[in-house]
Amino acid sequence: MLTVYTHQSLPAYLLDFATIETQQTLPESGVYLFYDDTGLSLGKVGQKGKVQVDFTAGAAHYRRTKGGGELIAKAVQHTSNPLIWDATGGLGRDSWVLASQGLSVHLFEQNLAVYALLYDGLTRAFRQPEIAQIATNITLHYGDASEEMGKLAQQTTIKPDVVYLDPMYPERKKSAAVKKEMAYFHELVGQSEPCNDEKLFQAALIYAKKRVVVKRPRLGEYLCQQKPAYQYLGKSTRFDVYHPNPA
Ligand SMILES: C[S@@+](CC[C@H](N)C(=O)[O-])C[C@H]1O[C@@H](n2cnc3c(N)ncnc32)[C@H](O)[C@@H]1O
Repeated sequence: MLTVYTHQSLPAYLLDFATIETQQTLPESGVYLFYDDTGLSLGKVGQKGKVQVDFTAGAAHYRRTKGGGELIAKAVQHTSNPLIWDATGGLGRDSWVLASQGLSVHLFEQNLAVYALLYDGLTRAFRQPEIAQIATNITLHYGDASEEMGKLAQQTTIKPDVVYLDPMYPERKKSAAVKKEMAYFHELVGQSEPCNDEKLFQAALIYAKKRVVVKRPRLGEYLCQQKPAYQYLGKSTRFDVYHPNPA
């Protein structure tokens, strides 16, 4: 059950995938979902900023038009046209870059509120002629990717060339780099959990045909302390690449 704060009625597409109750009075504290003319957003009581999945906005636009040179595109070897399963959807920014390169991406998200934000952002993208085609490259899945990837593999008998992982990373305490709005997202989703990371990583190694790509802070620890086969190093981010280990 999701609670959405709004003074208007919700569009039908938001009622499709979850039981949603609407309320008009904000909670006393914490983060909350709200709906207005701009779509679904995440806010925080007492603060002005909001987090929204907006594939038309500045950063997404820049990454759409310039994304081919991005390290993530190189790390998945985009020129070979791989099928990508992004097991940690978040706000869909990485998936959008890959979809903008013409790649088909299946995106998994286990947090229902984050999934709702993604669903809303993608639905709005479908309605914008200049980016609708990119949106069709993305297929959303709700649930724990370590289980959902297995179900999808059984249903379709198609396996991804690349499984992409960007699990939450423990925040450094006074990181100015985390914008206030992104702090809302972290408050909603929580921090990384070793057990979740381990399950995701093992599932990724089983289902990927060619490689598993893991996004980390440039100086961050390896996921599950596993040394990658090779790495792509950026200014603040690193992509660790692992050879898969099919069942
Ligand atoms: C750091 S964010 C990913 C950001 C994303 N790469 C982007 O570009 O916006 C991590 C996301 O992975 C999701 N997540 C973590 N474990 C998951 C799992 N086992 N299955 C599906 N989603 C998961 C979290 O809920 C969170 O939304």
